[in-house]
Amino acid sequence: MNSNPSSSIHTDLDPQNLPFHVAIIMDGNGRWAKKRLFNRIKGHEKGSETVRAIVRASREIGIRILTLYAFSTENWQRPQIEISALMTLLKKFLISEQKEMLDNNIRLNTIGQTERLPEDVRKELQKSMMLTRKNEGLILNLALSYGGRAEIVKAVKEIAIKAIDGRIDPDSITPDLISKHLYTAEMPDPDLLIRTSGEMRISNFLLWQLAYSEICITDTLWPDFGKDEFMRILKNYQQRERRFGKVGP
Ligand code: FPP
Repeated sequence: MNSNPSSSIHTDLDPQNLPFHVAIIMDGNGRWAKKRLFNRIKGHEKGSETVRAIVRASREIGIRILTLYAFSTENWQRPQIEISALMTLLKKFLISEQKEMLDNNIRLNTIGQTERLPEDVRKELQKSMMLTRKNEGLILNLALSYGGRAEIVKAVKEIAIKAIDGRIDPDSITPDLISKHLYTAEMPDPDLLIRTSGEMRISNFLLWQLAYSEICITDTLWPDFGKDEFMRILKNYQQRERRFGKVGP
């Protein structure tokens, strides 16, 4: 018998039926800290360690795209001290993970209104994206200053301008054309959405792209989330029948 439960779950996974694209709403950092009478920033610090562990696990398992909701357009309304701490953590993460991304064939990508991020963070993002642009393993797709409605508005504006200019015939506007005007234009939609901390909401995340994603909500708070639970969720995903609105076999 295998005494290591995580490795037995790992070998249990069907490599032919892995989700190509996994998206995660990383929620519960604040509650994790509150339960321990820490300030919220400590929760985000512990949450960044989970980010590292889940990026590594995704690469090892063979997931091709991991989209993490790291900062939403609504998060700009949090207290300035928390926003600054999150930006500092993000910058630290980018600096500390640069070698790991290069050594492990990880390509960094971002979606969202990244022009709103502080200049030093944008610089690190640009640098990591440039250095990793040729990597073909896991795509780590960070949603930063991201909002699903804002993304759709941006796409609609771009399409409207092309229609006015006569570059698009309104009759040729299809779901596929809209997808091509989203931040995720080059990516297939997520197969699986995971949300931690038990909230049953999408919170303005990938509103268009999640149309047929499988959803898994776990009560675990993000700082407590780990590889073993991730494996169990992937195993559960593999047992689901995806019908995309059609009838089953
Ligand atoms: C939600 O928890 C989490 C966030 C708003 C930010 C996510 C950020 C990290 C995991 C750390 C930094 C990111 C990277 C990529 C290094 P919450 O604060 O809403 O928790 P609560 O609902 O319990 O208050």
